[in-house]
Amino acid sequence: MDPVALPDDIIDAVARIPQPALVHTAEKSIFVNAALVELLEYSRPEQMEDRFMGEFIAPWHFGHPRMGRREAAGKKRGGGSIDIEISTLPLYCSDVTLYQSIIRDITERKHWEGAMLQSERLTAMGRLAGEIAHEINNPLGGILLYANLIHEDLDPGSQARANLEKIIKLATRCRIIAKGLLNFGRSSSKTYAPVDLNKVISDMYSLIEDHNILKRVSTKFSLARNLPHLMGDRGQLEQVVLNIVINAGEAMKGQGELRVNTHFSPDTKTINMKFEDTGPGIPEEIKSRIFEPFFTTKQPGRGTGLGLSITHGIVQRHGGKIRISGEVGSGACFELIFPVNISGPQA
Ligand SMILES: Nc1ncnc2c1ncn2[C@@H]1O[C@H](COP(=O)(O)OP(=O)(O)OP(=O)(O)O)[C@@H](O)[C@H]1O
Ligand SMILES: [Mg+2]
Repeated sequence: MDPVALPDDIIDAVARIPQPALVHTAEKSIFVNAALVELLEYSRPEQMEDRFMGEFIAPWHFGHPRMGRREAAGKKRGGGSIDIEISTLPLYCSDVTLYQSIIRDITERKHWEGAMLQSERLTAMGRLAGEIAHEINNPLGGILLYANLIHEDLDPGSQARANLEKIIKLATRCRIIAKGLLNFGRSSSKTYAPVDLNKVISDMYSLIEDHNILKRVSTKFSLARNLPHLMGDRGQLEQVVLNIVINAGEAMKGQGELRVNTHFSPDTKTINMKFEDTGPGIPEEIKSRIFEPFFTTKQPGRGTGLGLSITHGIVQRHGGKIRISGEVGSGACFELIFPVNISGPQA
């Protein structure tokens, strides 16, 4: 089919639309405006004209372009893609039916929608996990009590006593998991008090620095002077620091460098607490899952997979956010951002 000749007034109108836009047939692009060239990272409109629409927008329904508004992927020249919203209308100006589409970049909106969904899901899971843990915790207490009573009556060295010790060990492990879940589902104190995060970091670090997992890790602290106090629950914030530092030590298999720093931004009135390690980093495909309860990449029986989900719950109750970054192969970075002026636990 010969390229379709477009009337000048249509070209003029589409060229002047500030949003990315184009005129096309059911299959091919005819005229592309500068904003769309820029959005999809081409350098000249000609590179995008008289080309199959599927090269720019996916999915593309050949023969029957969808009218109205829909979400799709915009394909960039370099091979990446962005989330877009495309609104298509027919243009009746020649023998062939032409269409005009206006495109909006919704990558950021999609990102926030995804993050909100994830956070709602975690909250719901947390609540459910807390309820289940509560139901399991009490009978487990009973099991351990009676098992310990029988234990006292059995002869040392007997097979029955050895078997019972295994039961006690396994039941104790269940109890630890249930306790962790209870913590995850609820906040332990109703009133918050001022907490010095630098002090939490140094206290917790000295508690575990002799542990095998950190013995050969060189840790560099860069803690902000005059860091404002954070309104919070000290015990819970200690748990956050422990979880993240232990994870870093475990990721580095006990050897590497850990950088811990705190910083206050007066403009946003937020405190940043950052932990960077030189471990293997977090693969892209599991980044969205590491905060889920029970998600772990450790061998069965090693990790509960609760550390980060509890951490997430605690940070959220302090009105804060966790940002993870770092490239696979060059380490992981956990950045916690807390507002300083909250008065109590956040829902
Ligand atoms: N610093 C890190 N570097 C690389 N991966 C990490 C790091 N921190 C966490 N992860 C990944 O996130 C997963 C979940 O962490 P989380 O603390 O919730 O559970 P866990 O450490 O596996 O178990 P537990 O905390 O009960 O010992 C880990 O199994 C690991 O795959
Ligand atoms: Mg952990």
